[in-house]
Amino acid sequence: MSDPTIEQARAAADAAAAEANRLQAEAQAALTRAQEAAAAATQAVEAAKAQAASLQAPPAPASPSGPPQVGPLSAEQVDAVRRGYAFEGPALELGALINGTPQPDVQVRVPLGMLNRHGLVAGATGTGKTRTLQALAEQLSAAGVPVFAADIKGDLSGVAAPGVANPKLTARTAGIGQDWSPESFPVEFFSLGGAGTGVPIRATVSGFGPLLLAKVLGLNETQASSLALVFHYAEDHGLALADLEDLRAVLQWLSGDEGKADLAGLGGISGATIGVILRELVGFADAGADGFFGEPEIDTREFLRTAPDGRGIVSLLEVPGVADRPALYSTFLMWLLADLFNDLPEVGDPEKPKLVFFFDEAHLLFADASKDFLDQVIRTVRLIRSKGVGIVFVTQTPKDVPGEVLGQLGSRVQHQLRAFTPDDAKALRATVQTYPRSGYDLEQVLTGLGIGEAVVTVMNENGAPTPVAWTRLRAPQALMAPMPADAMTAAVAASPLQAKYGTALDRETASELLTAKMNAAAEADKAEKDAAAQAKADAAADKLAAAEARKDAAARKEADRERAAAQREAEHQAAARNRAMQQGVSVVTKVLGNRQTQRMLGDVLGGIFGTRRRGR
Ligand SMILES: Nc1ncnc2c1ncn2[C@@H]1O[C@H](COP(=O)(O)OP(=O)(O)OP(=O)(O)O)[C@@H](O)[C@H]1O
Ligand SMILES: [Mg+2]
Repeated sequence: MSDPTIEQARAAADAAAAEANRLQAEAQAALTRAQEAAAAATQAVEAAKAQAASLQAPPAPASPSGPPQVGPLSAEQVDAVRRGYAFEGPALELGALINGTPQPDVQVRVPLGMLNRHGLVAGATGTGKTRTLQALAEQLSAAGVPVFAADIKGDLSGVAAPGVANPKLTARTAGIGQDWSPESFPVEFFSLGGAGTGVPIRATVSGFGPLLLAKVLGLNETQASSLALVFHYAEDHGLALADLEDLRAVLQWLSGDEGKADLAGLGGISGATIGVILRELVGFADAGADGFFGEPEIDTREFLRTAPDGRGIVSLLEVPGVADRPALYSTFLMWLLADLFNDLPEVGDPEKPKLVFFFDEAHLLFADASKDFLDQVIRTVRLIRSKGVGIVFVTQTPKDVPGEVLGQLGSRVQHQLRAFTPDDAKALRATVQTYPRSGYDLEQVLTGLGIGEAVVTVMNENGAPTPVAWTRLRAPQALMAPMPADAMTAAVAASPLQAKYGTALDRETASELLTAKMNAAAEADKAEKDAAAQAKADAAADKLAAAEARKDAAARKEADRERAAAQREAEHQAAARNRAMQQGVSVVTKVLGNRQTQRMLGDVLGGIFGTRRRGR
């Protein structure tokens, strides 16, 4: 028999279990509904996001693995850039395309073989020109190509020392796919005539030539052509023009009495023009240019050397103080180029350049340039490429470079341009017009570039321009700062070039020859004058002596006459005295005893014999 209490309890338990099951089922149903609602909500958000994105951004990237793109180039345009910079031969790496973010899979380069088609690096101050130059120089050196660059601000000397890593640099280089490690490069430091830390570079005045000299002296066309004739004259007469003193001597000679006839023979140079040139020359020398001219003259082939490990030597002309001598510096660089041009053989289009020459602060070269001078620069730029030399002009805006030169520059790295003033804006528009068509609003891009970014277009291996590419440039691997001064001094002291160029020479040149000539003429003249003066003096002395002699004779005669007269007078007086004595003795006895008489006699007698003299 069952216990009614137990039965009751079981029934209650069953009821409770059934209620619990019901509640669980309800909870499950609620959870499922909640999950479904959440999923729907997520979907709605995604859809909204996608819609929003599709309104702002270009289509999704063509390469699904690449980083997200936000423009300004379309996927096709990015592809065109990628293909446009995929060269077959060796190339220098400039950096990675930026399309919103850096695209490490789209590298921007310049073919090594196209560097002799010249280039331009431009941009406002502080935008990265020098670092671009440095990165190019380093890669050229690594590729066995020697480099020449002027280190205007002294901030390029760090090429000789390894760079220093820092987190910002590493992030930057990793972002553009640059495998960065510190590296130093073989460097030779030069200085203008020894002013600064470097092996002295000098040019002889005749080597420099009248055209460049006229430019540094600021001569006008008439004066410049007169100077050319003076050079000609010096050459014809075997007067070597080594230093400024030599030229000065020739000018002085021509403007002096001895050179008058020669000057007349020079075809219409006026003495006044010579005077002007002379004045300018003196001012120029006094301003400290003396040291840059003279011997030994630098053999510009020194700049074509490679180090024992095959890397190209980076020759740096240290000219930190150039700001006060811009004309000299820029003309000097032009001379180096012209000299290279004269010395080097034709090589056509070599696989890689023999030398790349960076011409920093290039605006200095073109400022106030005469037409003759400009023509020479244009000619040099055009012809030097077939000698395997590439020139890269570095300047603030492309408008600093004359159109005819600009037109010959195959590669362009344009850093940020500023458009603060109406002039800036005009220059910006002019710059934009010189670019090939592209997917960029270049006015906007050029003013919005970050530091170390540039708009690039280069000459491809077929000689055609590559697509315009907004590029984040690679960082140099060497030090991005000046090399420590003591290390630089030590490097210069240890240079093998010191033996050849360290000490200035002073041969017998025009100034010595002309000085000797002038001295000889002056001496002959002096000797002649001296002789004449002597003769005159002798004659005068003879005359004087004769007069003296005459005077002496007369004096002697007079003295004799006086002596004779005195003699006669003395004899006469003696006789008189004698007579008086004779008469006196007879009266003495009469006056003796008279004191007065005695005193008077004493006076008379004393005066006559001189025992007592009367006052005169
Ligand atoms: N490619 C780069 N990688 C890393 N840093 C860079 C790069 N380019 C520029 N910078 C940074 O920007 C600074 C200024 O660059 P840089 O000295 O090259 O400017 P600049 O255009 O030559 O200026 P200036 O006209 O005054 O000579 C550098 O010191 C460096 O810190
Ligand atoms: Mg700079």
